[in-house]
Amino acid sequence: MFTKEQAMKVLGDKNQEHVLAFYDELSSEQQAEFLSQIENINWEDFTLIGKEDHGARGEFSVPPAVGISEIAEHHDEYEKIGLEALKKGEVAAVLLAGGMGTRLGFELPKGCYNVGESKELYIFQCLINNLMDVVNQVGTFIPLYIMTSEKNDKATRDFFAEHDYFGYNPEYIKYFVQDMACAVDYSGKLLLEEKGRLATSPNGNGGWYVSMLKAGLGKDLESRGIKWINIFAVDNVLQRIADPVFVGATIAGGYDAGSKVVRKVEPQEKMGLLCLEDGKPSIVEYYEMSKEMAEARAEDGSLLYKYGVILNYLFSVEKLNDIVDNNLYVHVVEKKIPHIDAEGNHISPTEPNGYKFELLVLDMVHMMDSNLAFEVERVHEFAPIKNLHGVDSVDSARELLKKNNIEL
Ligand code: UTP
Repeated sequence: MFTKEQAMKVLGDKNQEHVLAFYDELSSEQQAEFLSQIENINWEDFTLIGKEDHGARGEFSVPPAVGISEIAEHHDEYEKIGLEALKKGEVAAVLLAGGMGTRLGFELPKGCYNVGESKELYIFQCLINNLMDVVNQVGTFIPLYIMTSEKNDKATRDFFAEHDYFGYNPEYIKYFVQDMACAVDYSGKLLLEEKGRLATSPNGNGGWYVSMLKAGLGKDLESRGIKWINIFAVDNVLQRIADPVFVGATIAGGYDAGSKVVRKVEPQEKMGLLCLEDGKPSIVEYYEMSKEMAEARAEDGSLLYKYGVILNYLFSVEKLNDIVDNNLYVHVVEKKIPHIDAEGNHISPTEPNGYKFELLVLDMVHMMDSNLAFEVERVHEFAPIKNLHGVDSVDSARELLKKNNIEL
């Protein structure tokens, strides 16, 4: 483990000695924890500030997709294949719940938010209810792995336990904690969260598989014979999880991965669109798209690039193992970072004040050789909760839940 001298040397070399300002006030236990945190800083991330550049993009083309009518036509065939895989226990689900949910501004993990009006209905509960539909159809529980972060792990576990796992079989639930990354101010200086703690935040949703393996869950996947993992975001309360038709369509087409998508309603809509880039699956953010590309039309008059991703992906475990050692692109993101100032006062910024470093799952999709876009009805499967009010909010999700006859 780092000694104080080693920490001083490394920090000095990087012009970051300021983080030791309160070192002498710490207990020896706190000092040891702080030194270990300093030893584990990923300095490479810092070199990316101001240089984020995806480089030249490749050539885009339309991805393989099954639209709603085609899915309806093949529904029974896809469902049969999916149900077979699920019955054999080859499909697991991973809930990405390590995010900070800062936009919602709720003190507990986002999944603990109550969207109910006249009764309790928590976000986690909505997700479990949705998964239970498949469990009931298949006749067996589906392994569910929940990714938390060190900031919300205990609160998440306690919440599930206190609510009896919302009726799920706890033997099929396992948790793992994602990695953290340091946060810096706009001049690249490390921020302190406490006098003996660097400000850190979860390292984005793209690190999930690496963190899962680090937690020793690779063995669990292997011993259970899991071949497919459906990962999904915590915040979409209408999310269909381990959907047999989706699983079946991906398997039937021989794809490495599948992505649930919704149809873009107008050319400039703000969503990440699924494309092929130099023949490989790729997600292009709305702000990365040229006007021509955003407005291009297919022969039938519909938008050519029309499928937006909703953070619900199915990955082949074999393929995940092939790519797990490949480095994911690190995104430098502006965020509000709570910290202490030079006098040790706690500051909770109301505006972004620095950068976090994040890995994103959409970059994993690009590492797949093939991916099927599987269209779903927005009104039935997409009710994300990012904010309290307005777009993608508790309010809009409540409306959508009601439209789907879910009692609040
Ligand atoms: P968001 O991009 O909405 O981020 O996450 P967030 O941190 O939850 O919310 P804001 O931006 O602070 O308001 C999309 C999904 O990815 C998960 C989230 O929990 C959510 O399910 N996620 C995000 C992680 O699991 N880990 C991360 O480090 C970031």
